[in-house]
Amino acid sequence: MKSILRAYKHAPEAHLSSYCIPIFVDGKSCGRLRPLTIDSLHREEEMRLLTEWRGASAEWFTSQFPVTVEGTRQWVDEQILQADDRILFLVEDEDMTPIGQVGLLHYDEDKKECEFDNLLRGRKGRFGNIILYALLALGEWGIRQLGLQTGYLNVLGDNHRAMHIYRKLGFREVRRVPLRKVTEGDVTRWVTAPELSGGEAERELVTMSVATDAYYEIIKQFQ
Ligand SMILES: CC(C)(COP(=O)(O)OP(=O)(O)OC[C@H]1O[C@@H](n2cnc3c(N)ncnc32)[C@H](O)[C@@H]1OP(=O)(O)O)[C@@H](O)C(=O)NCCC(=O)NCCS
Repeated sequence: MKSILRAYKHAPEAHLSSYCIPIFVDGKSCGRLRPLTIDSLHREEEMRLLTEWRGASAEWFTSQFPVTVEGTRQWVDEQILQADDRILFLVEDEDMTPIGQVGLLHYDEDKKECEFDNLLRGRKGRFGNIILYALLALGEWGIRQLGLQTGYLNVLGDNHRAMHIYRKLGFREVRRVPLRKVTEGDVTRWVTAPELSGGEAERELVTMSVATDAYYEIIKQFQ
């Protein structure tokens, strides 16, 4: 099944649309998830957007660092395109304008589980709630194409906006770990600190999880 991720990331430019996952709202297509491919590395606007969005949303990720276009290109190349258990999609609205991103990480073929990764809305789309539907589309694709039985994600405990969406999609909290802030030069990382009690920690990392059956029930509600 990892071959599926590889095929999407190597989708030829001429056939890219057949590798896009449609985003439906009330039965109507309102956008699509377009995989980042090896051609993305040469699309300057795409690299620029990913860089700008990551910089603007840095506080909601566990590491904050000076974000550059070259750094983003290297990250896409080495951490996403070359990783066999990971994929990243651009969320595009109905006129194919990229408005955000979402991916899958740590795909485990044997356990049939995977982490939802790098969710971010960079700008407002034409359809307000598109992120929710983008996640539904990605989850359904993961179940169908990758045979996923469990999806999970990690989110900072003070990210109420993101957690609200995840709860709507059936994700439930399974673990909460205290974090400690480590700053080295212009890089800040929030690292797990089991020695701290929940009350002492400045921030926490929450793991949320959903099983396929529960997810299908949620999908039905939104159809
Ligand atoms: C998380 C993110 C993708 C959400 O997408 P979005 O399009 O902004 O979503 P919305 O603004 O519609 O908010 C989503 C929901 O959260 C609710 N919400 C907003 N602020 C909230 C808060 N402080 N507490 C609880 N719920 C809140 C909204 O009302 C909405 O719910 P509704 O549709 O039931 O009304 C976006 O905010 C983002 O890119 N954040 C920065 C990156 C990030 O945090 N990524 C997640 C990493 S785990």
